[in-house]
Amino acid sequence: MARNAQGIGYVAGCLVSGVFSRGHLSPYDKEMRSASEPGELNGLILGIESSCDETAAAVVRGGTEALSNVVASQMNLHANYGGVVPELASREHLRNVVPVVREAMQRAGVSLDEVDAIAVTEGPGLAGALLVGITYAKALSFGLGKPLIGVNHLEGHIHAVLMEARQRAERPMEFPLLALVVSGGHTHLYLAEQRRDLAEQKKEGAWRYRNVGRTVDDAAGEAYDKVAKLLGLGYPGGPWIDLLARRGNPHAVPFRFAQIKPRVSRDGAPIKNKKAPAVQTEGSFDFSFSGIKTAVLRYIETHGMKGSVEARRRALAEHPEWKPGSDEAAALCDRETLDLIASFQYAVVGNLLRQAFAAAERYGARGLVVSGGVAANSELRRRFQAEADKRGLPVAFPSLALSTDNAAMIAAAAWPKFVAGEFAAETLGATPQLRLGGS
Ligand code: KG4
Ligand code: ZN
Repeated sequence: MARNAQGIGYVAGCLVSGVFSRGHLSPYDKEMRSASEPGELNGLILGIESSCDETAAAVVRGGTEALSNVVASQMNLHANYGGVVPELASREHLRNVVPVVREAMQRAGVSLDEVDAIAVTEGPGLAGALLVGITYAKALSFGLGKPLIGVNHLEGHIHAVLMEARQRAERPMEFPLLALVVSGGHTHLYLAEQRRDLAEQKKEGAWRYRNVGRTVDDAAGEAYDKVAKLLGLGYPGGPWIDLLARRGNPHAVPFRFAQIKPRVSRDGAPIKNKKAPAVQTEGSFDFSFSGIKTAVLRYIETHGMKGSVEARRRALAEHPEWKPGSDEAAALCDRETLDLIASFQYAVVGNLLRQAFAAAERYGARGLVVSGGVAANSELRRRFQAEADKRGLPVAFPSLALSTDNAAMIAAAAWPKFVAGEFAAETLGATPQLRLGGS
């Protein structure tokens, strides 16, 4: 609690002791400075992320400059099971967290003493996995006497894009932003804006988020992973489908997405869908991806493709060195399979695109941010960019390295919280179902 109260006073103290460097000011720094008390805010935040199957640590200066960004992926471990095994993930995080943080400090060329705050993912994610990062971050915070900042993983994905836009010294996007966070565990649309006034930021939080759309069943990345598995391809499925889809005809199989309508009770009032916690009354921007997965399964069954799927699965098991996009992997797919893959991706990207742009229009968004693992998808980027250009709406994506889980995004999202003195209590725990913003 004493640590929480340090707030801006703590920041000011650091400024006096000269911990912050006084280098180049990005537009964001200036914005932060003008929104805050006198003095420069250019601190170092150590971010730690362990919500799923990546143990990651990064040091970011002033929410903009990533001095290091280390990710230890467990992908190969979980690939044998076709998905993340929570117990194995926790064990790997335990093994990795100390060396990963050490590596991040070394690469950044700074000592733990120079870090101004420790930021950590508090949710959503796997409980055991989150706990490893949180426990270590709390120990560091306590031992070093530095504030602790809890970050929502989804917020991190959004800030990965904003951080990189600042690195490119681009004009900041105007608010409100519409953020599509699309990953293996999440498909959400958020209306997001930074509160301008520091007093308000301190009271209500630095950023305001409103969840205006979400998946009611599978996440988009989950659909990629499941469909890849159905087709005998590797894990995670996204990169396999992305690269193989380029070789197929996206119009061969016309998959359709049903409209997700709010469920309405007899008296006409919207009622809560089991998985969709809140239903919009004025048009739904929700998603559903379990239908297309079932449609792909049906297609495989009715078109006699099971034998070729099995043969492919065996061949890839024998040749783990055949990577997504390699000619060897492509040679395992006949025309019908390549067309099915391309058609699946065309439909999924089309659905994400339609919902995102409709929501952007509905809420008067001034910019669009697409983030999360699926934002690495090449067709998604191309079609979103083309549509945004057509509409004159700025759109931004993270670099490929920051699309998937990392800790630089956690440190970046923590920066405005640091400035606003939004620190976590010593009782910070893992919240596996943590939500971002209200509906
Ligand atoms: O953000 P992320 O690393 O972890 C979660 O928070 O879930 O996202 C992982 C997801 C996986 O489902 C993976 O298949 C998907 O992102 N993915 C892709 C691509 N690269 C990764 N999906 C489509 N195209 C890609 N190129
Ligand atoms: Zn993620």
